[in-house]
Amino acid sequence: MLSLSSLTAGYDGGTVLHGLDLEVPEGSVHAVVGHNGAGKTTLIHTVSGLVSTSSGRVELAGADVTRQPAHRRACSGVGLVPQGRRVFPGLTVQEHLALAFGRRSRRERATAQWTPENVKELLPRLAERAGHRGRQLSGGEQQMLAIARALLGQPRLLLLDEPTEGLAPLIVQDIADLIKKTLPDRGLTILVAAPRPAFAADVADRVTILVAGRIADEFSAKELRDEPDRAAEAMGHAAAEGAPASPSRAETVSL
Ligand SMILES: Nc1ncnc2c1ncn2[C@@H]1O[C@H](COP(=O)(O)OP(=O)(O)O)[C@@H](O)[C@H]1O
Ligand SMILES: [Mg+2]
Repeated sequence: MLSLSSLTAGYDGGTVLHGLDLEVPEGSVHAVVGHNGAGKTTLIHTVSGLVSTSSGRVELAGADVTRQPAHRRACSGVGLVPQGRRVFPGLTVQEHLALAFGRRSRRERATAQWTPENVKELLPRLAERAGHRGRQLSGGEQQMLAIARALLGQPRLLLLDEPTEGLAPLIVQDIADLIKKTLPDRGLTILVAAPRPAFAADVADRVTILVAGRIADEFSAKELRDEPDRAAEAMGHAAAEGAPASPSRAETVSL
């Protein structure tokens, strides 16, 4: 579904991603793990088209989209759940869903895989909170809303950037279940960025370790569960578990 070859990308200030190769087969879940500043968000934005590629290729379902702008890629089936969730504080849940679903003909509404109604069935908390504004939602509810909003764009490839950042353990498990089971069962291919190898081993089929914009290692989730130290070694610290997550830094991506 997604294929990156020799992908190099960055900002005016310099190159962040250095020649990445990555294959994400249809229906699979792929996690990109790395410390703060490793380039996870840059990679996700390069796939969604928000950051442009300086060399190499981005292919979606066999089509070269390297030069396609973000809105075209969204139409081709790339959905983004951004880091920090980006919920509008003054809009209600229902208004977010209506906005994300957009103006569609009756026929489009009838054939859409995802509608405001069925995302609320998938994420019942959103149905309960339909009249609440973004600022009144908990972090977990905001994350569910950010996922619902991306689904309403009818994606084939869903990009999730640190979807459990700052959330309570129970909600983290709900989100893990969505990523590893519920969404793939509905035909989605998933690329998820996460700081912790343990979360990646739980949700993903394959895991790439990103260090300073380069692939330090790549393995199956099973290999990672059997040898948790391998991720820690690749990431350059002693213990896979127990190390505190890096403090979340203010978003530096200005788009
Ligand atoms: N909008 C931007 N302009 C310039 N540099 C940026 C921008 N966003 C991120 N960077 C830099 O790119 C590198 C990787 O950042 P990022 O992709 O956000 O990493 P991660 O998501 O893994 O924390 C960092 O050195 C960061 O400072
Ligand atoms: Mg990031």
